[in-house]
Amino acid sequence: MSEMHADALVFFGASGDLAFKQIFPALQALVQRGRLDMPVIGVAKSGWSLEQLVDRARASLVAHGGVDEAAFAKLVSMLRYVDGDYRDPTTYAQVGAALGAAQYPLAYLAIPPSLFAVVAEGMAGLPSGSRTRIVVEKPFGRDLASARELNAIIHRSFPETSVFRIDHYLGKEPVQNLLYFRFANSFLEPIWNRNYVESVQITMAESFGVAGRGTFYEEVGAIRDVIQNHLLQVTALIAMEAPATNTAESIRDAKIALFKSMRTLDPENVVCGQYQGYRDEAGVAPDSQVETFAAVRLFIDNWRWADVPFYIRAGKCLPMTGTEVLAVLRYPPHDLFDRAEAHEPNTLRFHLSPDVYIALGARGKRAGEAMAGEEVDLIARDQQGDEMMPYERLLGDALRGDTTLFARQDNVEEAWRVVDPVLGDRPATFPYPPGSWGPPAASSIAPEGGWRMPRSQQQEIAYDDDQVLDQPISADVAALEAK
Ligand code: BG6
Repeated sequence: MSEMHADALVFFGASGDLAFKQIFPALQALVQRGRLDMPVIGVAKSGWSLEQLVDRARASLVAHGGVDEAAFAKLVSMLRYVDGDYRDPTTYAQVGAALGAAQYPLAYLAIPPSLFAVVAEGMAGLPSGSRTRIVVEKPFGRDLASARELNAIIHRSFPETSVFRIDHYLGKEPVQNLLYFRFANSFLEPIWNRNYVESVQITMAESFGVAGRGTFYEEVGAIRDVIQNHLLQVTALIAMEAPATNTAESIRDAKIALFKSMRTLDPENVVCGQYQGYRDEAGVAPDSQVETFAAVRLFIDNWRWADVPFYIRAGKCLPMTGTEVLAVLRYPPHDLFDRAEAHEPNTLRFHLSPDVYIALGARGKRAGEAMAGEEVDLIARDQQGDEMMPYERLLGDALRGDTTLFARQDNVEEAWRVVDPVLGDRPATFPYPPGSWGPPAASSIAPEGGWRMPRSQQQEIAYDDDQVLDQPISADVAALEAK
């Protein structure tokens, strides 16, 4: 069944934020590529008409890249709208009617997780129920126990092969390239292990705050929002063994082997921070301890990576926006030329966003009489123009029934197992000023040589060491915030 192409798309949450920001632009892009030709049924409980949904779709496209009138007209011709309460059986009767003769619907649940079960049951109850696939959005659970519970609920109506858990990072071209680059080339593999790699740093920096999503963020925090999913998935791609074949299940099998080797986080290896001003955001508690920054030291207990620390850092209101993986290699066994000079070891940098490039940080001889060197970056830049947006890629894959870029149940649960101990009974949260690299307490778990900034080729970064503070947030928050 999972190989049948879907012949209808039903998206729940049609009047919501995700549809506005991601789904309509992805739908137009799929139409432009000739990949969407089926009923597209929006479902919401907003009292709207089809015309209002069409207006909303247009507004979404205006705000996200522009309207292609021909593609939009085609999209509108396919669009249907069902207005109804998700708990009301008549809503599903209307969805069934809108599906018409469709045999293989794809149901996209762009709705709060508390409604997953009721919508999954509603869709499963339709005549096409056993042939339906469902797409679910993150956050997939709040911790290991709730993720297991959610999986059990969904599996009551759908087998795992019909469930597509979205992690939009997996739909990103440079993230897919991590896997491709590693296993399509021969030069990397011999050094990609504990003998040559000293440590790995993964940074996801955002220069903006929670941007109106205070209520959502209060429920999650940085560890749940981006580390448990996006950044552990990136870690898996750079650290996993070669999959047996290039199929969805082989790739996910290789990933699960890696996830199983990840050591469960010890609170001593985690430092959390909160940018000053976060508590003034709408929807945020005045005494919130939610982390907007987290730094983590992680170990992978297997033959390839034993004792190699993986440092993960993610935060809002940092000095720049950029996501990067940096592998720091060991120094040559004998430093023949540059012994007197402190210098950087070799590095391999995968800069994933906003600009995309791979750089080998090497040493070359500085021109002149002396046999002395300098750092040089050998850069391979990505210049592809026709890149698919992650949501277009993922929606297209789900319509085709290709699960490769979706998180499998066991992968999601293992990732929760890794972060679980630092979710509830967490270490102190330290304040940091917006525009700094988080609380200096993060230096207590810093890599050898310190945390390295992502090196965007596009942004000039000012890093002011004096800006940082070093006290737990609970210590004297009022005084700090008054500054
Ligand atoms: C989302 C998080 O999953 O990813 C956001 O909820 C974060 O907090 C976003 O800003 C980052 O995604 P991207 O694609 O903009 O790097």
